[in-house]
Formats: sequence, C-alpha cells, structure tokens
Amino acid sequence: MGEQGLVSAVANAEERAFEAGLRPHTLSEFVGQGKVREQLTIMLEGAQARGTPPDHVLLSGPPGLGKTSLAMIMAEELGVPLRMTSGPAIERAGDLVAILTALSPGEVLFLDEIHRIARPAEELLYSAMEDFRVDVILGKGPGATAIPLALAPFTLVGATTRSGLLTGPLRDRFGFTAHLDFYHPDELTQVLTRSAGLLGVRLTPEGADEVSGRSRGTPRIANRLLRRVRDYAEVRADGTVTREVAAAALRVYDVDGLGLDRLDRAVLEALVTRFGGGPVGLSTLAVSVGEETETVEDVAEPFLLRAGLLIRTARGRVATPAAFEHLGVEPVSDPLGRSQAALFPDAG
Ligand SMILES: Nc1ncnc2c1ncn2[C@@H]1O[C@H](COP(=O)(O)OP(=O)(O)OP(=O)(O)O)[C@@H](O)[C@H]1O
Ligand SMILES: [Mg+2]
Repeated sequence: MGEQGLVSAVANAEERAFEAGLRPHTLSEFVGQGKVREQLTIMLEGAQARGTPPDHVLLSGPPGLGKTSLAMIMAEELGVPLRMTSGPAIERAGDLVAILTALSPGEVLFLDEIHRIARPAEELLYSAMEDFRVDVILGKGPGATAIPLALAPFTLVGATTRSGLLTGPLRDRFGFTAHLDFYHPDELTQVLTRSAGLLGVRLTPEGADEVSGRSRGTPRIANRLLRRVRDYAEVRADGTVTREVAAAALRVYDVDGLGLDRLDRAVLEALVTRFGGGPVGLSTLAVSVGEETETVEDVAEPFLLRAGLLIRTARGRVATPAAFEHLGVEPVSDPLGRSQAALFPDAG
C-alpha cells in the first residue's frame, strides 16, 4: 500500500529500469542541488589534478532525489569503474572483504543504504576507508591471528535516506557529506523538459510547470507523472502535453494541484470537515478514513507535514490554515471554542 502509489518517492524494479534511461551522466546535466554540485566539482577536479582518488563521500537525503545518480556521475566524471553494492547485501564481514580486495586502483565503490550494513562489516570499513587496509581474522579465540591485507586506493560513496542511523565512527570517515534537499518546482520543470526530450514527448513549458508543481519536490515523482501524462496525451489528446492536458491527466490519476493523492486528500478532508480542523487523535483520524493507523502515519502524514498542511500537537493532529485554503473550506472554530485563528495567530 502506498509504496506503488503515483506520488510515492520509492521506486519498484520496473521503474528503476525505466529511470536508468533518464539518469544524468555528467555534473552539468544534473539539475539543481547547486551547492552540492559545486562542492563535488571542486573535489573531483582537485583529486584529478593531484592524481589521487577523491575523499570518501556520503550522500544523504530522501528517496528519489538523485543519490544513485550522483554516485554514477562521480565515477563517470573521474573516468573510473564503479562497483555497486548495498548495506543489506553485505551480511558478513567476508562479503565486504571480497568486494574490497577486488577493487582496482581509483575505483568508486558505491554502498547504497549504508546505514543497513552489518556491524562486523562496518568495523572492517573503518580501516579500509582510513588506511586502505583490512585485517582478516583467521581462526577463533586466543589462537586467532589478524592478517593485514593492503587494498588499492578507492573512493567510497555511501548513500543513505537515514543519516541519523549512521554511527559516529563511520560518519567521521567521510571527507565530505552532501545533503540533498527537495527540488524547487522550477528545477523540476528543467528535469521534466530534459526527460521529455529523451523520451520524445512533446511537452510545452506550461505543461511542464503543471506537472512540476505536483511532483513533491522529487525528480523521481516528476518523471513518473510525465509517463502517465504522456499516455493520456496520446490516448485522449493529440500527443502534446499542454497545461490543460497535464491537469486533466492528473485529475484522472487523482493527483491534485499540490501533489496530494487520494489517501492524502481523504485524510486532510476528514481532518478539516469532520473534525473542524482538529485537534484529533491519529487513530480516530485513521478510523474515519478506513485505514490502518500506520498507513496514515507513514504514508500520508509525512508529506502533509512537509507541505505545511497538518501539524502534530500534544492533543492530536491539527489542520493548518493552508489546509482549509487548499480544500476551499472556511476555517471554523474547534470543539473547544478555539478558532483556527487562535491556534495560528501568525497566519493570514
Ligand atoms: N538532479 C537531477 N537531475 C535530473 N534527473 C534527476 C536528478 N535527480 C534525480 N533524477 C532522476 O530521478 C531518478 C531517481 O534518482 P536516483 O535513483 O538517483 O535517486 P536516489 O536518491 O538514489 O533514490 P533512492 O533513495 O530511492 O535510491 C533518476 O532516474 C533520475 O533520472
Ligand atoms: Mg538510489
């Protein structure tokens, strides 16, 4: 549930295959994230001038913002091979030793979901990152011996959606941490225009704006909506994605002007119309939309919070004035007689 939704930031296998064709290949093709792009450019150029592999880089940020893309771009810009693996794939220290000892000099090792790496493997990573060395332990107990193995110098690029779960020692071994932020709609318009070119979709600038505003700041969602809008344009219109075509298509797919889907809207509408804007407890709210508490909390609520439509208070969930405005509902007093204006004295 939710994971496959049209505005979910997470991709399934089919979508990842489709995304491969839309990935930017150079830093200059990579849209937005200006600060990170500049920092990485300087880092890569410095390392290339010195003829050494660049420092290890940690890429952190929500799903679909370009972490994997940036890792691939780094290897491509450096002209070195890229080895890809992930935290969950490394269950034992031996798995990591096998990967590390097979690296060629200068190679980029991409470790996705690095926060999920098993602890013994993580500890091996410390000396690998610091000294390009791993100690392989042979035997057990008092008779065990550590055999140091030298590694080819490499660059570790770690990616995580949960940087808070990284241990201090691991975090400290990265020379540079890049935080990816949600994209501005104008940047997503650029992403969409580029993707449309690659896919051979006729997309007008207004059509691109219409889609970008509903993409929740996430390139992955923008590209996904573009696919749906293209289908609609081909089947119900003359193939060109104009503003009207994009809006009509996304109405069919239940993605509203802010990028809320059916569940998001149901939650917000219940909060605003049935509970007068709240405060209301999460479980009551969930029951009223016929969903599990976890679904409302994990699937709908994060974006409603981020979009400034809902806030959490000690007494329950409360709709903001922006939520009333978005739904076209007049703000009302809550059951305890406090008006929305009293809860939000700064609004309006
Ligand atoms: N800055 C960007 N410019 C152009 N396209 C982008 C950009 N960032 C992401 N994309 C597009 O979005 C898709 C998803 O990006 P990517 O796979 O790099 O995200 P991610 O951060 O690794 O996500 P996850 O956390 O799910 O692994 C890519 O196929 C790419 O086409
Ligand atoms: Mg990724």
